[in-house]
Amino acid sequence: MSTAHLSLNDKNFEFPTFAGTEHELAIDCGKLRGSTGAVTYDPGYGNTGSCKSAITFIDGEKGILRYRGYPIEDLVGNVKFTQVAYLLIHGELPTTTEFDVWRNELTQHSLVHESMLNFFDHFPVTAHPMNILASMISSMSSFYPQDGEDEDKLNLNIMRLVGQVKTLAAFSYKKSVGQPVVYPRTDLSYSANFLRMMFGLPTEEYEVSPVIEKALDALLILHADHEQNCSTSTVRMVGSSRANLYASISAGVNALWGPLHGGANQAVLEMLEMIQADGGNYKKYVEKAKDKDDDFRLMGFGHRVYKNFDPRAKILCTAAEEVLNELGVSDPLLDIAKNLEEIALSDPFFVERKLYPNVDFYSGIIYRALGIPTEMFTVLFSIGRMPGWIAHWLEMRSDPDGRIHRPRQIYIGETERRLNV
Ligand code: CMC
Repeated sequence: MSTAHLSLNDKNFEFPTFAGTEHELAIDCGKLRGSTGAVTYDPGYGNTGSCKSAITFIDGEKGILRYRGYPIEDLVGNVKFTQVAYLLIHGELPTTTEFDVWRNELTQHSLVHESMLNFFDHFPVTAHPMNILASMISSMSSFYPQDGEDEDKLNLNIMRLVGQVKTLAAFSYKKSVGQPVVYPRTDLSYSANFLRMMFGLPTEEYEVSPVIEKALDALLILHADHEQNCSTSTVRMVGSSRANLYASISAGVNALWGPLHGGANQAVLEMLEMIQADGGNYKKYVEKAKDKDDDFRLMGFGHRVYKNFDPRAKILCTAAEEVLNELGVSDPLLDIAKNLEEIALSDPFFVERKLYPNVDFYSGIIYRALGIPTEMFTVLFSIGRMPGWIAHWLEMRSDPDGRIHRPRQIYIGETERRLNV
């Protein structure tokens, strides 16, 4: 492998390089400060590889996204979200027997500890469900403590997290609308269970629509992992201090909530509604997004990694149309979204900056057609991302190069000054 040469203050330094299995080249600068006295400066870590990872591969230029080597286009529609969860966490798709055991255990562990139900009563009705979800996941470490490195306990806690996240999500919604919670059932699929817990009532039967179940499962798969994004990096960073799994994941949920990350799906819908209320004048909003003196951004556009197209958005754009057709829903917001996309994709401002619709642009329209309230959109993202967060947390813990995450800084404050005493 080639060597990287650095010339600094008339001295020459050499650094080893290495490549990943998909040939991305990395300069190993682990000894940079020790040998040169300098550190790297990379705001937002756009050029920094924080770890080696075998979970997800993205080629942002070619619009490729693969989980453990499998393209998302192969997974969506052919396997279930729970199989993808197993793939991400265990590295391989489950055999039939492994899947039976996994599915059964996830269902068994989808019941929330009864004492935790009291917590829901004490959030204000206006509380955002992402905040409730993060708090609930954090409190799980009180109910199911992780003793040291006990593998069996850790596996149990993983199952509890994947199994219970949808229950906690649905319960937080039920509380916000003042309805009694609906417990999970062992005979339903993961997605069907979530839908029943969201929209069912204890007083009557709830028939899960197969169209909606299938669409939700596909959405969860498309959100299941995305390598070192903001929330996953947060999970890894918190976990690097040896904080427990629940503490690390609840930090990830909070990171996801921000509108530049997972919170963008809610923000997209709110933006489309605002444009609709403004007479559908989408051109005005494209101009606002281009105006440097205006903070407004086209939500659902742009990505740190994808500079060609987001393959998830491509699948979702087609899926949005199919779901709306199958459900017989006509949504004027879909037309506004398509108009925005068309105009933005031909406008030099967006073309030059390689700003394309991302996963959050079309997901909200599908969630809306499925009857999911806007405030729950990012919660849905969290349910999907759970296996990815867990897989990264596990990988981080077993990384032989792993150390506590502790970046350096370049101090630009006052130099030493003394009190005049
Ligand atoms: N609308 C208008 N201009 C934009 C947008 C946008 N959505 N996104 C980026 N730009 C411009 C930005 O102003 C900058 O212009 P200039 O070079 O003239 O200063 C240029 O494009 C580069 O932007 P950046 O902020 O440096 O890019 P970044 O890689 O740091 O940020 C991003 C990526 C996703 C945060 C950003 O594109 C954005 O804010 N998008 C809107 C929010 C969004 O949709 N987020 C969801 C991301 S995908 C799912 C997920 O991560 O959860």
